[in-house]
Amino acid sequence: MTATKGLEGIVAAASSISSIVDGVLTYRGYNIDDLAQNASFEEVAYLLWFGKLPNDAELKQLQQDLSNEATIPDEVIQQMKSYPKDTNTMAALRSAVSALALYDGEADDMSREANERKAVRLQAKLPTVIAALARIREGKEPVAPLAGVSIAENFLYMLRGEKPDEVSVKALDQALVLHADHELNASTFAARVTVATLSDIYSGVTSAIGALKGPLHGGANEAVMKMLNEIGSIENVEPYIMNKLENRDKIMGFGHRVYKNGDPRAKHLQKMSRELGEMKGDTQLYDMSVKIDDLVTSQKGLRPNVDFYSASVYTQLGINHELFTPIFAISRVSGWTAHILEQYENNRIIRPRAEYVGQTDQKYVPVEQRA
Ligand code: ACO
Repeated sequence: MTATKGLEGIVAAASSISSIVDGVLTYRGYNIDDLAQNASFEEVAYLLWFGKLPNDAELKQLQQDLSNEATIPDEVIQQMKSYPKDTNTMAALRSAVSALALYDGEADDMSREANERKAVRLQAKLPTVIAALARIREGKEPVAPLAGVSIAENFLYMLRGEKPDEVSVKALDQALVLHADHELNASTFAARVTVATLSDIYSGVTSAIGALKGPLHGGANEAVMKMLNEIGSIENVEPYIMNKLENRDKIMGFGHRVYKNGDPRAKHLQKMSRELGEMKGDTQLYDMSVKIDDLVTSQKGLRPNVDFYSASVYTQLGINHELFTPIFAISRVSGWTAHILEQYENNRIIRPRAEYVGQTDQKYVPVEQRA
């Protein structure tokens, strides 16, 4: 038995949700470019869960269900208020989502219908939880969700406490479409491993949030923003990046296990970043990002992934970097729950083997005789 480090190249599940073939990403057979330009996030979530784009009545029903489910129990709000104010936002989110299960009477109902309802419920509640966490940290009261508006609009409204402008809503909605699913990425795999024991959907999503938090996965967007802040100006880009490359440090937001010629989502976020900068009349963040992109591509042959330009997009939307990875979770919970439903449909416990590389032929020695 020989281990494959990082399971590279291992096909660990059959799935009909999303695919990456020759660098092309599709959700249920729809090219991500087509969806990014034309679909709303709610349409994409429906597509991931139910395998087809919704008709008008189905979309309206989903929007209604999401609206009905968007509030969170007061007990969870109180609990969030007791979290240390300087805690990592993803750690707080992980705890809050786990707590949601305690107040869901259907948490352990394993029927398909109940699990579909819980997928919608988790999708509806995550933005409310994250906006509440952000406001509580700032010493403000959480804002209750609005009825009859999109997830993107509702999230920005709950965060800011006022109706957001259309450009911000459209940009966030498109970012949510782009992050919704991505085949067997680390957090989705974590969710599938957890529920393959026939544990509940909340446990699966909690595991996934823990995996997304890491800087090699969803946490990279926050790390990109920290890097942009450290660099500070366009003149500093070259010495900063060259120094990192010479020291063989990782440049966050670059490289990918599957894409070797570029991440198809990055170009949409790059365009969004440029447009938002031009609209504000300040393209410094975008210009710095492009310069980093050019340098890392030419020096190292590494291309930006989905996390790289999303950092400047979210900053230009006025969003604090601590919320970047939680926003990723607002989108990816659609994919996680779609994969969880798929796993339950044709389940087998996920239990691989390990190549043992430790000592052998050891003999027990009583404690008093040990050195
Ligand atoms: N900066 C500098 N060098 C890099 C980077 C990077 N961002 N990414 C990979 N490399 C180098 C590695 O050091 C390695 O070099 P070596 O062969 O000389 O040792 C080579 O490229 C291959 O990289 P691996 O680490 O083997 O690639 P792996 O598939 O294991 O990891 C990963 C992929 C985690 C995305 C990696 O590229 C990385 O750490 N990138 C930065 C973090 C990041 O942006 N993560 C977000 C990914 S997208 C997402 O999860 C949403």
